[in-house]
This record gives sequence, structure tokens and C-alpha cells, in this order.
Amino acid sequence: MQNAIIDPNQGEVSPTTTEGVAPAIIRRCRDDERATILAIIQAAAEAYRGVIPDDCWHEPYMTLRELDGEIAAGVEFRGYEMDGALVGVMGVQAVRDVDLIRHAYVLPGQQGRGIGGELITHLRRKSARRMLVGTWSAADWAIRFYQRHGFEPVPTAQAPKLLRAYWNISERQIEASVVLADVRPIPAGTPTRFLRC
Ligand SMILES: CC(C)(COP(=O)(O)OP(=O)(O)OC[C@H]1O[C@@H](n2cnc3c(N)ncnc32)[C@H](O)[C@@H]1OP(=O)(O)O)[C@@H](O)C(=O)NCCC(=O)NCCS
Repeated sequence: MQNAIIDPNQGEVSPTTTEGVAPAIIRRCRDDERATILAIIQAAAEAYRGVIPDDCWHEPYMTLRELDGEIAAGVEFRGYEMDGALVGVMGVQAVRDVDLIRHAYVLPGQQGRGIGGELITHLRRKSARRMLVGTWSAADWAIRFYQRHGFEPVPTAQAPKLLRAYWNISERQIEASVVLADVRPIPAGTPTRFLRC
């Protein structure tokens, strides 16, 4: 997987094409792309089926109305575009003194190729504040993914307090979730072109 390119002007597109390789870019998602964002979330959220507690699983996992609500509450999505199509999304939401990573999803057929890694590195580069991410405690792959990208679980006793303070989710979801905090610097050698977007 090549590294996606970011346009320094406004954090949007600046694709390059290596001969024979499709251009890949990380860019801000447009307002008219909500249906595409939702489709990616719904497809990738299939990973939770049968894994998270049954009473936490909904079908669809997220509705357009819920996505609209998240965007209205300040979640900004970045997307990973390949061959002109979004294949992964990751949101960030500024809540008081922290930036939350929200709704990280890559299309199932594109997972495991480094797309999520590039998106999270991009968001970490953009943030100068403490970053937190919450996920289902049963989603061990997601926990490992965040750990590989500089996050560590906060002590179990602190997680509900943080989830109540910074998220707007049900008590049931709080019970079934963990929180990870951004504790490690981004490794040297990560492409610096991410810095200006
Ligand atoms: C979690 C998720 C967003 C990560 O995105 P991703 O694109 O799959 O992430 P990456 O490819 O960067 O890393 C995941 C795996 O791919 C591997 N990988 C990374 N770059 C790679 C590359 N260039 N080639 C092959 N494999 C690679 C990583 O080592 C990792 O493997 P591991 O889990 O066996 O250790 C995505 O898998 C997903 O949507 N999962 C379902 C929904 C979900 O759990 N979302 C989290 C919500 S909080």
C-alpha cells in the first residue's frame, strides 16, 4: 500500500501517481458523501456481529439520522480515497480539552493493507491535544490496532468516567466499552507530508 498524499493547502487532495499504481489520498469528506460514509460504516461494522453483546448490536449498525447527529455534534470525517472512491473513514471530534477519534471504519475488502494506519497517523498528526478513543471491549482487533498506533487502555476504573464526560452514549454501551489514550509519540520516519494538512 502506498502512502496517501495530503494537499498542504487545505488538507485536501493532492494525488500522485506512481506508474501503474492507483493514486491514494486522504482528504476531508464532503457533506454530500454521507451515504458513502454510512455504507462504509455499515459494511465494516459487520465485524461486530456476534462479537459485541447482542443487545448492543443494531441493524443497521448506524442510521443516516444517527450519522447526521454525529456530524452535527462536531464529528469531522477524513476519508481515504483510492481510484476515486472512498474506502475508509475516520472521524475526529473536539470535546473540550481532548480530541476523540470516532467511527474508524475501512471497507472489509480493503482492511489489513495499512489504510486505517494511515488515517489514524493523519489524525494524530493534526491534533495537538490529548487524544482518546473508545471501542467495544470485545473488539480485541480494534484495541490491538489502536495499541499499535500509540494508544494504551486507561485503567478500567477510569473508563466509565471518561466515557460519561466526553462521549454521549448509553450506560449499556459504557459498560461494554474501553477507552484508550494516546500515550506514545508518532514514530520517527512516518511521512512528514502529513504535517501540514
Ligand atoms: C479497525 C480498522 C479501522 C483498521 O483499519 P485497517 O485498514 O484494517 O488497518 P491497518 O491495515 O492499518 O492495520 C490492520 C492490520 O493490517 C496489517 N497491515 C498494516 N499495513 C499493512 C500492509 N501494508 N500490508 C499488509 N498488512 C498490513 C496490520 O499489521 C494489522 O494486522 P494485525 O491486525 O493482524 O496486526 C478496520 O480493520 C475496520 O474497519 N475494522 C472493523 C470495524 C472496527 O473494528 N472499527 C474500529 C471502531 S472503534
